[in-house]
Amino acid sequence: MRILDVGCGINKAPGAIGIDRNPASAADVLCDLDHFPYPFRDNSFDRLEAVHVIEHVSDVIRTMEEFHRLVRPGGRIRVVTPHYTDFSSYCDPTHRWHLNSFSFRYFGENHGGFGYYSPVRFRELSVRVKLLALWRMLGFEYLVNRFRRVRLFWEHYACYVIRGKVIVFEIEVVK
Ligand SMILES: C[S@@+](CC[C@H](N)C(=O)[O-])C[C@H]1O[C@@H](n2cnc3c(N)ncnc32)[C@H](O)[C@@H]1O
Repeated sequence: MRILDVGCGINKAPGAIGIDRNPASAADVLCDLDHFPYPFRDNSFDRLEAVHVIEHVSDVIRTMEEFHRLVRPGGRIRVVTPHYTDFSSYCDPTHRWHLNSFSFRYFGENHGGFGYYSPVRFRELSVRVKLLALWRMLGFEYLVNRFRRVRLFWEHYACYVIRGKVIVFEIEVVK
């Protein structure tokens, strides 16, 4: 299993090749994620991890296109990012983007009418939202993740009260 950990920081995934721009990180290759292409051939990886990094890049669409190039057809990408209602989303001044649990639908069949943003395609295998502990204990996290319609309702009507924490997207590369 060839794994690329993008923006690995000091918590590189076991067995992965890590890339980051910070020389104090655990990166195997130092590079700037805003400069394309990254120094790997097409379809080099079976899996790509992007944990708390997509909110830092200059261009989400271009970065996802680069992930698409690097991962083989059918390979998997895990994107972890704060929900925009979490304290951390706007607290960290290096965050450029504030996303919700439907933000990657633009690369799939259910693209909300905006499929022309990019020619690359992904299949969303799962989306998991983590809520603050209180809401998790009261069962809201279960409901939001169990039923897509509840998640849609929550995003539209309730997330400023029942605030999100982290979103975990598991995405398959379609080529
Ligand atoms: C919040 S940390 C997350 C680190 C690690 N993935 C984790 O979960 O612990 C974001 C990482 O992305 C890296 N990063 C942010 N923007 C970058 C860029 N343009 N090029 C390369 N690395 C970048 C930072 O150096 C940092 O290590």
